[in-house]
Amino acid sequence: MNLFNVKPDDTILTGDRTTGPLHLGHFVGSLKNRVLLQDICRQFLLLADAQALTDNMGNYVKVRDNVLQVALDYLAVGIDPAKSTIFIQSLVPELSELSSYYLNLVTVARLERNPTIKDEIKLRGYERDIPAGFLTYPAAQAADITAFKATVVPVGSDQIPMIEQTNEIVRRFNSSVNQEILVEARAVVPENGSRLPGIDGRAKMSKSLGNALNLSSTPDEISQAVKMMYTDPKHLRVADPGQVEGNVVFTYLDVFHPDAARVAEWKEHYQRGGLGDMPLKRELEACLQALLEPIRTRREALARDPAMVMDILKQGTLKAREAAGQTLSEVKAAMGLNYF
Ligand code: TRP
Repeated sequence: MNLFNVKPDDTILTGDRTTGPLHLGHFVGSLKNRVLLQDICRQFLLLADAQALTDNMGNYVKVRDNVLQVALDYLAVGIDPAKSTIFIQSLVPELSELSSYYLNLVTVARLERNPTIKDEIKLRGYERDIPAGFLTYPAAQAADITAFKATVVPVGSDQIPMIEQTNEIVRRFNSSVNQEILVEARAVVPENGSRLPGIDGRAKMSKSLGNALNLSSTPDEISQAVKMMYTDPKHLRVADPGQVEGNVVFTYLDVFHPDAARVAEWKEHYQRGGLGDMPLKRELEACLQALLEPIRTRREALARDPAMVMDILKQGTLKAREAAGQTLSEVKAAMGLNYF
């Protein structure tokens, strides 16, 4: 298998805002892939605390504390700091400096037209009261990506406009200095299972919607989540025919059950009638418990030594600063801002 057609000389940059611990949706959509990608090419993982503040005005404690929580999630799922560089965004000032130059290459109108920004403005109810840092975060994200000369950026489909805008900045900068300094990046979106629905059946699993199952969930929480999981509300008696589409238990069985043939049989039986939700939920719970048990165990062990985890982030941040510093010098030299 060649994931996203990534080559050994590719460089990946991706990351997460540090607004909360990661959940099963992150695992399916990105973490699982990162564990594989770190064996194929260079990979930088950004703990986006500075970006998190763009829509979390004053929530410093939450954003700071979740740096460690997200790092624990990364390490617990098998991201290996010897293979992937994990770093803290706010500790790489080169990124803000790059971003400040990029802001001259984008217009306010273009930022306001960015579909990701537009959706998020609606979602957060900003209307006209948009924090300036939030409106301009596409330029900051362009800095995150270009500082490492990333060629591949795995993202959810909602983030594609961010990569498009990054590439516009790359082209505009390169043509403004008449040199190929910055590198365009390719957005890659996981084709199947990239968007795990919430346990309530809503399209997206999300902490803020309260329909998520965290990677740190206890066995009891997993059990509760499966019990509450949305199935077919019209499937009242076992004998009745049930619906598979939109039935979260089946969506999850498709993603997590190792035996696709058995899942196909259950679907057929369920649609015909005579198969209840309970045995399916028992099967699903077993899969989820088996998946999350080793993650939780490793996470708990790592959480007992936060100083060790912070040291991993420190080493990663030093490496990231070096790479970003190199790009920043090239950018400044190309603009003639290399005075001495
Ligand atoms: N915007 C991403 C999110 O909301 C996080 C992020 C910040 C990111 N910088 C990035 C993702 C660069 C990919 C590349 O989750």
